[in-house]
Amino acid sequence: MFVALAHARTFGRSFQKFEMTYIVNDSCIKCKLMDCVSVCPVDCFYEGANMLVIHPDECIDCGVCEPECPVEAIKPDTEPGLEEWLKINAEFSKTWPNITIKREPPADHKEWEGKPGKKQFFDPNPGEGD
Ligand code: SF4
Ligand code: F3S
Repeated sequence: MFVALAHARTFGRSFQKFEMTYIVNDSCIKCKLMDCVSVCPVDCFYEGANMLVIHPDECIDCGVCEPECPVEAIKPDTEPGLEEWLKINAEFSKTWPNITIKREPPADHKEWEGKPGKKQFFDPNPGEGD
């Protein structure tokens, strides 16, 4: 019995590892630079009115997009404190349109770089998509 439980726990941990994903957090809000979309091999970015999200079930955890974001808005969900953003990515990637081609970022994107507390400006409306 004990052995079976220990195996179940080990399996649980490895399963969690396979479930890992990358997510977009509030640093993207109102910056929306879109450098990330062209490098994703599985096209799993989705566009909201003022930020993008990643579909956690489609992301293959390759990590290629993370260094592409100039404002460091892309993080692995294994980093602490990102539960809220994992939920937002999972929820809104179901309904926002897919985006694979970079467009011009918002005209005032520079003003929003690195600003704290951007969550209050999160817009649940969809973006244009491709
Ligand atoms: Fe796409 Fe890879 Fe980034 Fe996931 S980690 S969103 S698969 S580029
Ligand atoms: Fe946002 Fe960075 Fe992509 S600002 S749109 S996550 S390049």
